[in-house]
Amino acid sequence: MKIAIGCDHGGIVLKQAILDELNKRGIEVTDMGCYDGQSVDYPDYGKAVAEAVSSGKADKGILMCGTGIGISIAANKVKGVRCGVCHDVFTATMCAEHNNANIIALGGRVVSPELAVKMVSAWLDTPFGGGRHAGRVAKITAIEDEYFK
Ligand code: RB5
Repeated sequence: MKIAIGCDHGGIVLKQAILDELNKRGIEVTDMGCYDGQSVDYPDYGKAVAEAVSSGKADKGILMCGTGIGISIAANKVKGVRCGVCHDVFTATMCAEHNNANIIALGGRVVSPELAVKMVSAWLDTPFGGGRHAGRVAKITAIEDEYFK
């Protein structure tokens, strides 16, 4: 499993905590920045991680900004990406089980590093439910096919 991770300045604290957890799990990680607390633009990092996932260079992606919202909106503009903003272990679990999200987005000003690690763990450890959820995710792909170039 290869994971691409990225954040803006609002997500930098969460990113370090999540990197520690991924390293503990022995997961191969590409850290696409940012690397310090200087103000940067979240779409740049959302795009970079989304492209890594969309191209197959990474199996999954993890994104963080202040709220998780802006960076998830940016990521979802890349074809093949299903990025969900999560706020707790329940939403992180559902993001995997129901939505088969290949990127999770978290808010550094919303959740603690400890909770973020629990959420990422739940998302990684929960398989996609398939069945009726597969049909719904296929409808998302159909929307992409209709509207993306
Ligand atoms: C940056 O101040 C903030 O707007 C950004 O981190 C994020 O919350 C946007 O959605």
